[in-house]
Amino acid sequence: MNSPTGNGQESSSDSSRPGAIAQFFITLLVRRIIPFVFGILRRIAPVFRFPFTNTVIVTSFDLVQEVFQRHNDFPVPYQRQVDHLGWEPTFLLAMKDTPDYWQTVDQVKALWRTEDLDFVRQIAQEVSETKLREGGGQLDAIQDLMVPVTEAVIGRYYGVPIAEDVRPQFFNSCMHVAGFLFGAQTDAPKVVARAQKAIALVWQVIDKAIAEARKNPLPDSTVIGRCHAMNVTDDKHLRSYLMGMIMGYLPTNTLANGHALDVILSNPNANAIGCEAAKKGDRDLVLKVVHEALRISYILPGLWRELPDAQKLGIGSDKEYEIDKGRLVYISAMSAMLDKRRVDQPKKFDPERSPDVYMIYGYQFHYCIGAAIADVMMKEIFTALMRRGPKPLGKMKYNGNFPWNYHIAYKD
Ligand code: HEM
Repeated sequence: MNSPTGNGQESSSDSSRPGAIAQFFITLLVRRIIPFVFGILRRIAPVFRFPFTNTVIVTSFDLVQEVFQRHNDFPVPYQRQVDHLGWEPTFLLAMKDTPDYWQTVDQVKALWRTEDLDFVRQIAQEVSETKLREGGGQLDAIQDLMVPVTEAVIGRYYGVPIAEDVRPQFFNSCMHVAGFLFGAQTDAPKVVARAQKAIALVWQVIDKAIAEARKNPLPDSTVIGRCHAMNVTDDKHLRSYLMGMIMGYLPTNTLANGHALDVILSNPNANAIGCEAAKKGDRDLVLKVVHEALRISYILPGLWRELPDAQKLGIGSDKEYEIDKGRLVYISAMSAMLDKRRVDQPKKFDPERSPDVYMIYGYQFHYCIGAAIADVMMKEIFTALMRRGPKPLGKMKYNGNFPWNYHIAYKD
């Protein structure tokens, strides 16, 4: 069986995976305990100060949307983590609503263009079909299908090839840096040092790709080639944008694809609708199935915001909450998308829901800039897979918080 290590290992990170017992408790915490506790909080205390900490957890649909909406009152806190990594100029998700932010959005959109989506679709379709053919009726859907599609898009579309000898470390490092940036917001020296080491490897791969492209120009179908040919920006900014579009892309895609497949294969109704849609070639319905699966089992418990000043939340509603200056706010889209005050029968799988109930890609300011790329990839991967009537050969396995192995059988 293939694997991104190219050496037949079970995964690209076997050496750094948590032990079986630690993994059991991580999965229990992230998949069972947190959703359960947040479900209770959503009903009785949707704004809840976590005891003995500086963190306030927000869990109801309306209040999560209110925090997203009031992005100037509740800005992102990620610049501190970015500073620890020496990542300069910074990237979109760490920025506040400034002219610099909007200039960066314009440049990123000039490099990752809407017109490129067909190329991404082509890559995702080709790699998915090839990997499923090579699997001959059985494969690890994460390591041998989803990861190779992600890698092919970074290599062939971005113009950043990932050499075989650094591939396992590259994938590990991306997951590690994403965890440092968007996880517990810690600045413990050991944690910072490990994150710095991890990001150094990702910089090496990006810098090498840019330097090679200066010597041997890449076609302008690639992001690097286009940037150089059209002088969109200098290499200092290009490398930062590439880092942002890899960090926003690789870890989230692994999470999203794994979670979606797990829900679809464990729910006979979802599986039947997905397979039927894929057989008819109805890619739009396949995507709705994937989005609905992600609503039911979202990729992360929450996202961070901070409070430079004291704020009220729930303004204009029956109940207002006061939150002190300096608090960190953890907003749970995972919990919000299961709030029955706004989502009818939230546990029921219904891919034809109104788009208004979904916050998979965030909401308003900071809305995911890669959403269309992720959608195109998921359409192609899941259409190719569901057309073949996949069946799980066991449970999905995790590496920490990341879905990592999922062995399936399918019609060859
Ligand atoms: C299914 C896969 C994906 C999911 C679930 C996802 C989710 C999200 C979410 C929830 C946010 C908002 C975060 C916040 O408000 O704190 C976000 C922002 C972002 N995402 Fe994604 N994302 C995905 C794929 C991608 C891809 C493929 C890329 C790049 C090609 C990407 C790049 C980004 C960037 C750069 C931002 C920051 C945008 C800004 O600050 O304006 N994401 N994503």
